Amino acid sequence: MTARAKILIVYDSFFGNTEKVARAMRDGLATEGDASVCRVNDVKPEQLAGLDVLLVGSPTRAFRPTKATMDLLNALPGSGLKGVRVAAFDTRIAPEDVKPRLLRWMVKLFGYASEPISKRLVKKGGELALTPEGFCVMDSEGPLKDGELERAAAWARSAMK
Ligand SMILES: Cc1cc2nc3c(=O)[nH]c(=O)nc-3n(C[C@H](O)[C@H](O)[C@H](O)COP(=O)(O)O)c2cc1C
Repeated sequence: MTARAKILIVYDSFFGNTEKVARAMRDGLATEGDASVCRVNDVKPEQLAGLDVLLVGSPTRAFRPTKATMDLLNALPGSGLKGVRVAAFDTRIAPEDVKPRLLRWMVKLFGYASEPISKRLVKKGGELALTPEGFCVMDSEGPLKDGELERAAAWARSAMK
């Protein structure tokens, strides 16, 4: 009998939207292995080693992940994620919903939280399972756009392929 895959989804969240996305991913992965979900402040760097799959998500804030998210990844040793399949996600406001044109231009230029998270996961030795992905809220405090939780569950499941 093969061991069940060890899967961890780490998230940060201010208004609860990224948390909902992380939980939908956990539910989507329940048939694929032992999937758990944990807020970034409750995770110690040592918990990230020895996993089969690690998904890390943050709200996009000023084009970046939260400090707590990057602090956790920065605290990992150089090859701390060796042998771990990794992927990053964020929540964000869709460009078509950003009203001031200057801000829309800045969003295109500076991007979203999942990109730097993904780069750091790979820098720490992780094996990239999926390209970074974003899930959209209708406004800063939410709610998520229709269908995003289903899309998040499907995205997470595709990390197992
Ligand atoms: C201070 C602040 C900065 C934000 N910056 C961005 C941004 O640069 N790009 C973007 O798409 N959304 C931005 N947002 C919207 C957030 O992405 C949104 O609040 C987040 O997805 C909600 O997730 P949460 O409920 O997990 O906190 C910002 C929101 C706040 C409050």
